[in-house]
Amino acid sequence: MNQLPKQMPADGMSAYAYFLTVERPSIDDLKGMMFLEASGQGLYDGLAALTDKDEARQILARNGREERAHAHRLRRAIKILSGETVEVPAPEENPYHGALGFDALTPDVLEGLIGAEFDGEKLYNVWADGVDNADAAKLLRQNGREEGRHGQRVRKVMSLLRG
Ligand SMILES: [Fe+2]
Ligand SMILES: [Fe+2]
Repeated sequence: MNQLPKQMPADGMSAYAYFLTVERPSIDDLKGMMFLEASGQGLYDGLAALTDKDEARQILARNGREERAHAHRLRRAIKILSGETVEVPAPEENPYHGALGFDALTPDVLEGLIGAEFDGEKLYNVWADGVDNADAAKLLRQNGREEGRHGQRVRKVMSLLRG
C-alpha cells in the first residue's frame, strides 16, 4: 500500500511550507515530496482548464506532465538512498491531490505559482547538497532545473493571457 508518511502535513500547501524548512531530507521527506509532486499534474491540469487559450493550456499541461516525472525521479532517489521500493501514488490514494482553491488564472495566482516554482528550484539544490549519494543528488538537481523552467513557462503564460 502506498501511503503518505504519517508525520507529513495534511495538505499540499502546508507540506510545501514544511519542505522549504528542510535542508537534509529524510527518506520520509522524500516520500512526502513524491506525493506533492504527483499532485502537481492534477494542479496544472486544473489550471489549464481555466483558460481557453490553446498555447497557455499546452504550456501548463506540459509543466504538469513534468511534475509527475519529478515524482518518478524521487521514487528512484528513494530506492538509491534506502533500497526501498515505493510507487508514485495515483490521484485517489494521494491526500495532496485536490481542489485548487481558486477559479481563475489571476495575476496573483500566477505570480504565486512562479514564486513556488523558483523556490522549488532552490530547494532541490539544497536537498541535492544534503543527500549522501551522487546519483540521488543528480536526480534532485534535474528536478530543480526543471522547476526553474516551469517558472519561466508560467511567466510566458502570464504574458499570453495579458496579450
Ligand atoms: Fe516538480
Ligand atoms: Fe514545477
